[in-house]
Amino acid sequence: DRPAPLQGRCALITAGPTREPLDPVRFIGNRSSGRMGYALAAALAARGAEVTLVSGPSALAPPALAGLVRVETASQMAAAVMERVAGCDLFVATAAVADYRPAAPASDKIKKDAAELTIRLVRNPDILAQVAASPARPFTVGFAAETERLEEHAAAKLRAKGLDMIAANRVGGEAGGFDADDNALVVLWPGGRRAFALMPKTRLAEQLADLIVERYLASLAG
Ligand code: PMT
Repeated sequence: DRPAPLQGRCALITAGPTREPLDPVRFIGNRSSGRMGYALAAALAARGAEVTLVSGPSALAPPALAGLVRVETASQMAAAVMERVAGCDLFVATAAVADYRPAAPASDKIKKDAAELTIRLVRNPDILAQVAASPARPFTVGFAAETERLEEHAAAKLRAKGLDMIAANRVGGEAGGFDADDNALVVLWPGGRRAFALMPKTRLAEQLADLIVERYLASLAG
């Protein structure tokens, strides 16, 4: 039997993309498949945690977990997370949450009468920042998806949101990132850093889960 260092602990994980409706049939979305988040959910469950996965639309079969909550929009994801976060020991935000949504989605299908169309967007709630700012917050792990200056941007997000840890990946390149089988990560925490080379997301999730366990247990030890 493998050791279960997270036995009796609960973990809440976001995964996949969000979809922000433009009208009843169209949305603004992104290329997240859910692979990274689903693999991490499975890896934390394998270490004994009671895992609840809050997932945006994904074609993947979900891993066997304590709970699966399917959502579509960032606002729904925020509500699902904030309802469940109290009393949770770990929170990991792997979801690619839309930063903006259409201000006023059309109630009927938008017609192509006009030569140009302008859509006004408004900011979505930042779920990770809300969790990090919540009272008695869980051990909070964010992701950072960057196309350039990976570590610099990730370190800024770690500081700005007051996270316990951030896992940064390069996106929009040839290998890794969105909708790929493989990924590479640079993980930062206050006073520490570890790099993981390009490998299948399932294996990467195992290694990241071990690091999360290590840092989480260290945080309990004070
Ligand atoms: O799903 P896959 O195809 O396997 O791809 C995996 C991935 C590339 C999507 C994943 O590894 C990843 O990087 N996820 C984070 C994507 C992202 O939106 O990063 P960001 O740098 O824009 O956001 C920073 C952090 O804030 C993330 O933890 C994000 O979940 C969180 N966030 C962002 C905006 C928002 N409104 N709410 C949030 O919680």
